[in-house]
Amino acid sequence: MSMSILRAIEEDHRKVEDMLSSLKSTTAQEAQRRQTEFGGLQRELHAHMKGEEELLFPLLLDKESEDGDRDEILEMFEEHNLLRLWMDHMSTIEFSHPRWGAKMDVLAEVVDHHHSEEEDDIFPVAREHLDAETLEALGHRFGMVLQEA
Ligand SMILES: [Fe+2]
Ligand SMILES: [Fe+2]
Repeated sequence: MSMSILRAIEEDHRKVEDMLSSLKSTTAQEAQRRQTEFGGLQRELHAHMKGEEELLFPLLLDKESEDGDRDEILEMFEEHNLLRLWMDHMSTIEFSHPRWGAKMDVLAEVVDHHHSEEEDDIFPVAREHLDAETLEALGHRFGMVLQEA
């Protein structure tokens, strides 16, 4: 069964948010749990961002979209880069480090902000420029990218 890429992205946003809130509930004494869950989060987010960057965003940049919409999409690429840099930074710190929890909170805040912008600002542009059939075909391919994670 196939679903629109927008629906698939939205479902994965909720999954990532659940992973983030679980990680936020960990303590410095749970280094092993942090390591396991953070590894899972990294795999999920890297695949998710790759799927958006390869399947959806280029199509929206190609359309004769308004300058404001193009700027929004370019901003999404840069927020992805920020998330990659921050996750790489977090990977260099001990999971028992006293500041790890604060770093995790910042990661969750940036991801939440990013999800809101995609769903509120980018989804309407996609609905305007792509028909239902295209959105479903992309949804199928997005699912495959996530499975490779
Ligand atoms: Fe994104
Ligand atoms: Fe996303």
